[in-house]
Amino acid sequence: MLPKKAVIPVAGLGTRFLPATKVIPKEMLTVVDRPTIQYIVEEVVTSGIKEVVLVTASGKSAIEDHFDYSFELETFLAQKGKLDLLNEVRQISRLIEVVSVRQKRPLGLGHAVQVTKQVVGNEPFVVCLGDDLVEADIPCVKQMLNVYEKYQETVIAVQEVPEEEISRYGIVEGEKLEDGIFKVSRIIEKPAPGTTKSRLAVIGRYILRPEIYDCLERTLPGVGGEIQLTDALDTIRKERALYAYKFRGKRFDAGDKFGFLQAIIHYGLRHPQLGGPFKEYLKDIVKGLE
Ligand code: UTP
Repeated sequence: MLPKKAVIPVAGLGTRFLPATKVIPKEMLTVVDRPTIQYIVEEVVTSGIKEVVLVTASGKSAIEDHFDYSFELETFLAQKGKLDLLNEVRQISRLIEVVSVRQKRPLGLGHAVQVTKQVVGNEPFVVCLGDDLVEADIPCVKQMLNVYEKYQETVIAVQEVPEEEISRYGIVEGEKLEDGIFKVSRIIEKPAPGTTKSRLAVIGRYILRPEIYDCLERTLPGVGGEIQLTDALDTIRKERALYAYKFRGKRFDAGDKFGFLQAIIHYGLRHPQLGGPFKEYLKDIVKGLE
């Protein structure tokens, strides 16, 4: 059975992006012309998944509203004859069926996944972090579903990072099975420099199996006092199997100020209408810097 649901945790406090995120959820910050969360939902939808479980918290209702039907706005646009905009707005609410689950306290990513147990039930599911953007010809989630179809075990997306960045990520070590696919032998959350030779960093895309819920229940708070998904994945590795997949595409940490700036440049250059003029504008800026 292939996953039918995607869990998107958006209950974190977004402290790396303060003060912007004091009131506005970081997942609603706009990259070019849509909030980051919409890129993720579009990735999920184009991968063939239509049911989304949002893990939310207080102050995050703008995200639910964004994917909801807006009677007032749609009536206004229809009356004004602004049909292109109306279509665009309608598309958003038609993309997916959304169910929200509340995470009452931000006790970590592992805990955010744990609270979806009743809604997801006894089936495999996708997890996409609400602030990780991945631009790819074949959507990253779709690439991972292909790997899951073959191995039928937990799959996590990884990318290579420079040595000086390993302490910001979960890092995996493992045996290469085929191009881009590894059987994980070790997974370490935010390792200290020099403690691993691997540069394979876990990013915000996972395909989990229902066994993860039992593992999370047995997981004690780890790094930062939070229930770490990485620790539960390590239990999965020991008790079943864990595969890492080096996806094809480019990933941006849009929850980080510098990553967010990179995402704006990247998506701006690829925008169908704005891309051309934006490129010329950037060229002028670069010339001015020389
Ligand atoms: P992050 O660690 O990037 O999010 O978690 P954060 O805690 O909001 O950000 P900083 O570090 O304070 O800036 C990755 C994803 O997991 C969600 C976040 O919303 C984000 O999309 N998350 C994290 C939860 O849903 N609950 C949590 O308890 C922690």
